[in-house]
This record gives sequence, C-alpha cells and structure tokens, in this order.
Amino acid sequence: MHCSKLHQYRLSAVCGGRAAAEVVFDWMKITAAKRINGSVRLPGDKSISHRAALIAALANGSSRFSNFATSRDCASTLSCLQNLGVSVSREGNDVRIEGVGSGFSAPSAPLDCGNSGSTMRMLAGLLAGQEFTSILTGDESLRSRPMKRIVEPLERMGARVFSENGRPPLRIKGRKPLEAISYQLPVASAQVKTCVLLAGLCADGRTEVMEQSLTRDHTERMMKWFDVPLDISQADDASHTIYSVVGPAHFEGREVRIPGDFSSAAFLIAAAALLPDSELHIEQLGLNRTRTQFMETLRSLGAQIETDEWEDCNERVGNLRVHGTDALPKHQSSAHVVDGGVTIALIDELPLLAVVGTQVPGGIVIRDAGELRIKESDRITATVRNLRAMGADVEEYDDGLAVAGPVQLHGAELDSYADHRIAMAFTVAALLASGESEILGSNCVEVSFPGFFECLESIVER
Ligand code: S3P
Repeated sequence: MHCSKLHQYRLSAVCGGRAAAEVVFDWMKITAAKRINGSVRLPGDKSISHRAALIAALANGSSRFSNFATSRDCASTLSCLQNLGVSVSREGNDVRIEGVGSGFSAPSAPLDCGNSGSTMRMLAGLLAGQEFTSILTGDESLRSRPMKRIVEPLERMGARVFSENGRPPLRIKGRKPLEAISYQLPVASAQVKTCVLLAGLCADGRTEVMEQSLTRDHTERMMKWFDVPLDISQADDASHTIYSVVGPAHFEGREVRIPGDFSSAAFLIAAAALLPDSELHIEQLGLNRTRTQFMETLRSLGAQIETDEWEDCNERVGNLRVHGTDALPKHQSSAHVVDGGVTIALIDELPLLAVVGTQVPGGIVIRDAGELRIKESDRITATVRNLRAMGADVEEYDDGLAVAGPVQLHGAELDSYADHRIAMAFTVAALLASGESEILGSNCVEVSFPGFFECLESIVER
C-alpha cells in the first residue's frame, strides 16, 4: 500500500559504544491532513476473536472463523492454545481450531501472553479447571498489570494461583472439576467476567457471576452461538445482572464470521468526523451496543454518523458512514462530561476521546476512569503528557482528566508509551495538528491493528 507521508525510522540503541540489536526504536512521522476520503473494511474484532478461539478450544470438533483478528494479541491467544495441545491452522484471516473438549495437554514451557491482558485473564479461567499446573507470563507491560482480580475467584473455585504480589507470572495449579461459585464482580471488567464464566464451564454445577455495571457482552453472545447453556437474568431489585453457566459443559464447534473491530474503527471515525468534508465508509463493522458508546458520544457532540445494521453470528454488524463537518456545537460553554457507566462503555476509546475534546467547544471532562492507569500503559498520564506537548490545556485527575477546547494543536514529539491505543489516538491528533509530529514507538499498533498506518494513509488527503 502507498505510504508516502508516513515514514518509519528504526535505530539501534547504542549502549556503551556498541549497538544493542535487541533495543530498537521506531518513529512515525505524521503531517497534517485536509480530509479523510475512502472506503475500508477492517481486521476482525480482537475481543470477539479471543473469545471465539477460547470457546472453540473447549468445544468438541472443529470451528472455523473468517476475518479472525490480525492483532498480535490474538496471535498470542492462538499460540498459547497450540502449546496446550489444541490444533490451530490459519490461512490468511481464516482460522480453524480443533476443539479438545476439556482435555488440554500440560504445556512444556510457560505460556507467553505477550502484551495481552485479555489472553492472560481469560485463559486463566480455562487453565484453572485443568488437572495440570501451568505458568502464564507476558511482556514487561503485562507483567506489571494487576491479576488479583482473577486470582481471587479462581482460588475460591479450588484452583491454586501463585503470583508476584498479584502480578504475573501466574502459576496456576488447576483442579478438575472446579467448585461452582456465586461471584459478585468487584470491578467492572469483561475480562474478569469471562474468566469466571469460562472456569464455570469446567466446574461442577452452576456458577453465577453478578455484574453491576454493564461491560462488553461478547462472551455471552459467543457462548450462546456455540449453544453453551448460559442464563442471563436481572436481580429482583434490578441492581445487577446475573450470568450463570452449568458445568461441566459439552458443546460442538461452530463457524463464526467475525466483524471489523469497532475500537480500531474509532480512530478513523474520529479523524473523519473532525476533518471537514470527509467521507468515510466502513463495511461490515461490529456495532455491538456494548462497544459503540464512542459513536454515540461523537453524535451527541454533533458528528454525522449513519449506520445500516443487521445481525450475524449473534452479533450486531453494519456498514457505517461518517460525513465530516465543522458542526461540532459551536456555542457550548460548559464541558461535555463523561463519567460512570459511560466511562466504562468507552474504556478503550478514552485517550482518543480526550484528543477529540481538544476540538470541542467547552472541552471534555473524563471521570471514573481510574482503570486507565493500569492498562497497557498509564493511559491518563500518557494522554495528558502528549496533549500538553501539542499545546492543549489539560488538567490531570487521579481518575481522569479535563481538556479544554477548541484549540489548534501543533505538531510535537509524542510518545506511544509502547501502548497501541496511545499511538493511534495521537496519530489522529497529529492529523489535526499544524506542522509535523513524530510518534516514538509506533510499532506497537500491531497489538490491535496491524496495517493501521497504511490503512489511514490510503484514505487521508493532504
Ligand atoms: C476487554 C475488556 C476491557 C478492555 C480490553 C478488552 C475484553 O478490559 O479494556 O481492551 O475483550 O474483554 P477490562 O476487562 O480490564 O475492562
């Protein structure tokens, strides 16, 4: 793909006078854009792909997936499954998995989850229900992330999970079958919900998970698509949702068509919405309502986004069209506030929303987002520092930030903090800014959206 304005530089770091081949820095240069114009189809949804692979591994017989995520995170899930004796074959973006029922084989080495918190937290649920001991590890970022949130329920189910003060590596001594439990989620986390539900499939009896704030529901949808017996109900006082599965569960493999990833699309949608006269079409995009809050927030700020939608493989899918205007509300004096359940629904899009806030009259305030500090990087600090480097007026809170708008951003040296969503959010900021920006460590976009820069370059007009 033509990539004329985005350049990548790799330099070997020089340590004590000699090149250290293992330390490679990369930069992406990005210049201002006039508009976005074009039509794209995006790689498969990362959250759906992880779940499809994990549930298929536990099924009897084969499953086939089309448009499986190209993300490095999902490759980590597939390689962990292979190391557990699951046969995985891949031709392009078509993936085939031969399920092993509950009979995984003990891995001969630690399972490397790379940068992927989803892989570690969700796979731990399956490993807790095995007769062997396994070790889950990952890169430096993942090894700093909190795992107590899954250790606690899995130990209550009878597994033993050893960690480094609640952080990876995790050594999981499984138990077969696990004990069924009733568990109230202490944090709003789809990964933890999924971990306990997957463990529940390997338990004896009914496992219940209670959730107060709605999180993405792909596990529930995928389980239903695989005919896994899952019940969903509301508590009598409507204070929470109750999910229950009965184990040990037996079910068959299935075919799944995986829609494009909305969280990847969000970067393109924001750029198109903010650059006047843009026309962007995205085909066959996942539009699950637990994922599209970013689109609703942009619409409430005046962005013109239309969709036509249908159901496929128990997920909402559609074609989306953005028309870029300069019609974001002109005369609003107070900031647009994002907090509570809206923050949870937008969790992966918050750095990008902060970038959008620089273009919104009155700006944007984000609260209740403390979880952002324990993602692939501290996304609050990363966002605040990069926005300030571009000339934005930003205040940092423990649980969020406030950004003033509208402001003309200027090009700057930006840091990805090795975090894919920070790299992509600030690529969008760089398109809106005057002059040229450089993003340090841009390769990390591969974690969720390989081909991001090429895709963007194919639709950017300068
Ligand atoms: C995910 C859930 C979210 C999200 C992550 C993917 C998932 O994490 O941030 O990128 O696929 O379940 P939490 O469960 O920690 O909120």
